[in-house]
Amino acid sequence: MAIRNLRLEGDEILTKKSREVEVIDEKIQTLIDDMIDTLHKYNGVGLAAVQVGVLKRVVVIDLYDGNDPIVLINPVIIKTKGEQEVEEGCLSFPNQFAKIIRPAEVIAEYTDREGKRMRVTAKELLAQTISHETDHLEGELFMDKIIPGTLEYLEPEK
Ligand code: NI
Repeated sequence: MAIRNLRLEGDEILTKKSREVEVIDEKIQTLIDDMIDTLHKYNGVGLAAVQVGVLKRVVVIDLYDGNDPIVLINPVIIKTKGEQEVEEGCLSFPNQFAKIIRPAEVIAEYTDREGKRMRVTAKELLAQTISHETDHLEGELFMDKIIPGTLEYLEPEK
């Protein structure tokens, strides 16, 4: 288990498309463990592998709601419903927050780390996070979709 270096705003890798995971081997398991450690270290709710420099379709999410982190391998959004206007940030854009429109509900399929294909119906923050993280897998960044004029820079706490 280790903290990995975050790829930040301006790093070209963030605009690249990630590749499907074909075999969930030890390397992928280590990547997942490290991504969860990195997510927790920076108090994020979601992290895509590309943000630690790995172009694989792996996402980890932790809503800090008492449940274990969710690991999504090769996630696909099957259906979206409605819209929600939300405040959003990204670990690759430290201290920057903006308003953005996300789907109110998302139905997604993914493979869990045991290799089982799963389906989730997500609302609110989970729908927002799945939408944000699957965008990362396509090389799409929230900053390019924000509602104009809503960007705020928050100074980190000393
Ligand atoms: Ni992000």
